[in-house]
Amino acid sequence: MNILILGGGGREHAFAWKMKQSPRCDHLFVAPGNAGTATIATNLSIDPMDFDKVYKKIKKHDIHMVVVGPEAPLVAGISDYLNEKLPEVLVIGPSKVASQLEGSKAFAKQFMADNGIPTASYIEVTKETLDTGIDHIDNHKGPYVLKADGLAAGKGVLIIEKKKEAKKQLRQMLDGKFGSASQTVVIEEFLDGIEFSVFILTDGQYYTLLPVAKDYKRIGEGDVGLNTGGMGAVSPVPFVDAEMMHKVRERIILPTLSGLEKRHIPYVGFIFFGLINVGGDPYVIEYNCRMGDPETEVVLPRIQNDLVDVLESVFEQDLYEIRLEKDPRVAATVVMVSGGYPEAYEKGKKITIGDVGSSIVFHSGTAIEDDKVVTSGGRVLAVTSLGETIGQAVSTSLEAIDNIKFKRSYHRTDIGSDV
Ligand code: AMP
Ligand code: GLY
Repeated sequence: MNILILGGGGREHAFAWKMKQSPRCDHLFVAPGNAGTATIATNLSIDPMDFDKVYKKIKKHDIHMVVVGPEAPLVAGISDYLNEKLPEVLVIGPSKVASQLEGSKAFAKQFMADNGIPTASYIEVTKETLDTGIDHIDNHKGPYVLKADGLAAGKGVLIIEKKKEAKKQLRQMLDGKFGSASQTVVIEEFLDGIEFSVFILTDGQYYTLLPVAKDYKRIGEGDVGLNTGGMGAVSPVPFVDAEMMHKVRERIILPTLSGLEKRHIPYVGFIFFGLINVGGDPYVIEYNCRMGDPETEVVLPRIQNDLVDVLESVFEQDLYEIRLEKDPRVAATVVMVSGGYPEAYEKGKKITIGDVGSSIVFHSGTAIEDDKVVTSGGRVLAVTSLGETIGQAVSTSLEAIDNIKFKRSYHRTDIGSDV
């Protein structure tokens, strides 16, 4: 069958790489894709937010399956749009309503409260209820976690120590610091623990559990400094043992699926549970309605099944028959970024990739200019390796990175060293 992947980052390159291995995949398209996907698929230079153009490309290229990578088109309703116009096309990605699990923090918090799903306690604040928010900060100890309700390109969460600063930021958020995304702000209890990422693929009733991963969000070694989209990831995660996964299943995954069913919200696609281990108990930090990036770059290389078969089973009500075969080895990915990221950085730097041995180089922010591969984003490449231990897998990626060059490149060397 012909397959279209929407998006253009490392996650989408990893999807393309995995789907390309399937004998069931005839022609593979990525929109808009990047210089990496161009080597294994046909890039279509359209914006996934332009639903009409997506629809036309699906018709033109006789596409039978669409995998939606990023959250923005899902939250804007691309699945509903395509399902209505092209009911025969298999769309991997939830409806607009279901995507509210990621698209609205207030929706997600209320959903968790209604279903007894462990998460930080919270209040919701708008301009009209600003006084309640200020009182809340006065009456609680920091750190204060302030979250813009809507999508804010991963920047909408502030963690603040001091009362005065928290109040100032709350006011600024309600005044439009993150545009309409922060018209409503969620103030949360601060949870202290180690984060990890759990992914399922679900048809709303049955689900299959993907390999667990952990990403490293901060720019600096030792996980310090500004938040980024993710500087690396590992899978599996040593502290997420069978006992922890039992708790995750009973307290989080099953109540989430039954909660959706109770609200009559069908769900087709991935659910990414952003979790935190607080003294041996899992709490939900956030839901995402898609796979993670760079987690996908360590999750998919550990899955041995044909991904097209697995995704198709979502539509055939036989997901429960799928047993995922997982590579027992550890996967690690190290992200190479443009100097300056996550603040201002330059683009257009020529990239040369030498011998990377057995490592896999997934492209994130790359483009082709005058037949050369150049940087075009903050996160540029994700270099994934498999190994017997986390240390080994990371070392293999670091050796490969020694042979990849672009001006002012930066990466962390400590991915996975905390676990
Ligand atoms: P989110 O966009 O909700 O995932 O938040 C971004 C990051 O902020 C998370 O990955 C956590 O590191 C941190 N964070 C969010 N909520 C909390 C919380 N309640 N307690 C501690 N850290 C949090
Ligand atoms: N790596 C975190 C995310 O994809 O949101």
